[in-house]
Amino acid sequence: MKKITIAIDGYSSCGKSTLAKALAVKLKYKYVDTGAMYRCTTLHLMRCNIIKHNEPINHLDVINELDNIHITFKYNAALQFSEVYLNNENVEKEIRQMAVSENVSKVSAIKEVRHKMIVLQKQMGKNKGIVMEGRDIGTVVFPDADLKLFMTADIEVRVKRRYDELLSKGTHITYDEVKKNLVERDYDDTHRKENPLIKANDAIILDNSDLNPQQQLDFVLRLIEDLKLISEE
Ligand code: DC
Repeated sequence: MKKITIAIDGYSSCGKSTLAKALAVKLKYKYVDTGAMYRCTTLHLMRCNIIKHNEPINHLDVINELDNIHITFKYNAALQFSEVYLNNENVEKEIRQMAVSENVSKVSAIKEVRHKMIVLQKQMGKNKGIVMEGRDIGTVVFPDADLKLFMTADIEVRVKRRYDELLSKGTHITYDEVKKNLVERDYDDTHRKENPLIKANDAIILDNSDLNPQQQLDFVLRLIEDLKLISEE
C-alpha cells in the first residue's frame, strides 16, 4: 500500500492532535505532535532558568543551550500514540501546564529553535507514512505533503474544549485565562517573522466547530478515498 504524508496545521486547541492521533491509528502511521517539541524546549529553558517570569528571553542563552536539548518520541501501546521525551524523561504531562503554554510562543519564534526542530521533523517524515501536526507543516516542513489540512474552529468552541480538558486534569484555571492564552498564542503564531502560521495554498480548510471527533475523522478518510491518495501499488 502506498504511504503518504499528511500535514495538519491550524490554530491552538482546534483539535489537531485528536484528528492526527485518530488518523495515525486508522492508517497505522507515525504521529508527531510538533507543538510538543516546542513545549519541551520551553520546559527545558524554564528549568535551567533561561526563561524567567516576566523577563525578556536572552536569545543567545537559548541558542547556547540548544545542544543540551534532546527530544525523542516513544510509542505507548496502551495510549496508541508516541509520547514525547525530553532528555529521556517522559514530559507529556508537564509540557501541557499553563506556565509552559504562556512561554512557548516566544520560544517558537526564535529562528535557531525552529531550525533545530524542522531538521528533526523532516528526518522523522523521510519515509512517509506519517501524520504530523503543528503550525508550519504544510508550508515549511513538508511543502510536498500529499494531503494538507488547515484546521480552525470558532474561538469560543476552542476555549471551551481546552478549558474542559484542563479542568478534567485538575488544573485550577478560569475560562477567561484560557481564552486570553489562546488569543495571545494565535496572535503570536500568525504574526511572527519566522514561519508564521498561514494556510498553505493547497491546504483544505477543515472547520470543526460543529463536528465531533468521529465526524471529522470520517470527513478526512472520505477525502483520502475521494482523492485516491492511498491506492494499492
Ligand atoms: O500545538 P501546541 O499548542 O501544543 O503548540 C504549542 C506552541 O508551539 C504554539 O503556540 C506554537 C508553537 N508551534 C510552532 O510554532 N510550530 C509548530 N509546528 C508547532 C507548534
